[in-house]
Amino acid sequence: MDANPSQLDPAALPRHVAIIMDGNGRWAQERGLGRVRGHEEGANSVRAVVEEARRLGLTHLTLYAFSEENWGRPGAEVKALMRLLKRFLKKERDDLAAKDIRLNAIGQLARLPEDTRSELERTLAATAHCGGMVLTLALSYGGRQEILAATRELCARAARGQLDPAALDEATFSASLQSAGLPDPDLMIRTSGEQRISNFLLWQMAYAEFIFSPLLWPDFREAQFRAALAEYAGRQRRFGKTGQQLAATSKPKGGRARG
Ligand code: FPP
Repeated sequence: MDANPSQLDPAALPRHVAIIMDGNGRWAQERGLGRVRGHEEGANSVRAVVEEARRLGLTHLTLYAFSEENWGRPGAEVKALMRLLKRFLKKERDDLAAKDIRLNAIGQLARLPEDTRSELERTLAATAHCGGMVLTLALSYGGRQEILAATRELCARAARGQLDPAALDEATFSASLQSAGLPDPDLMIRTSGEQRISNFLLWQMAYAEFIFSPLLWPDFREAQFRAALAEYAGRQRRFGKTGQQLAATSKPKGGRARG
């Protein structure tokens, strides 16, 4: 399935797309290559999808690049992934700034190796002024850990008398997460045919639409991304309401019909 960008109704585009980039290892194995080669090809898909998202006018894209659980992979693969990330951050820095893309990062960044973290900090600083799109990399990220950290912080504030537990609402909780300031994802795409959420943005994806693509991440490029956006545009997001209620408000299908 393909979709021409001119056929995508801008009003039905999601504001925020979150992606679980899965299948690099299988892509490599299918070709008799080492897993790291799959991650390298996956980095090319990252580049392609980021550029396409910007071209189409999405304002937020979040990529699950390394989970808390990924630290448990063989040491050589973890090292290679960190090296690849470092190279990507250095190589793409100027291009991200030129395209007006602001890099953002969530996760336990202190766990990243020093050299990867310093490239990350440089790219964050070099793009801090950009306003065209926010590209968030989830690195050493876990949704439960993020929720726990926010809960600890809110409890500490309550213990100091700075927060009334009875007044705690969703907006305050959202603002305590690392994703504070980002809109909730409208669409989550996971590649490789796996159909699970894997500890990704658990709080934030309460109302996201999910698309599970059978393609392996290195095979997921501009055309496949546009096809997913077209599928999203055809969905009706009801936020607990009835289809008739939404028809009465006559908002377009897809991302901008908020409840
Ligand atoms: C999942 O595939 C992918 C990852 C754990 C890493 C994602 C990394 C990249 C896409 C490349 C580098 C990222 C950036 C931002 C430059 P898998 O290894 O679990 O695949 P498998 O399930 O087929 O084994």
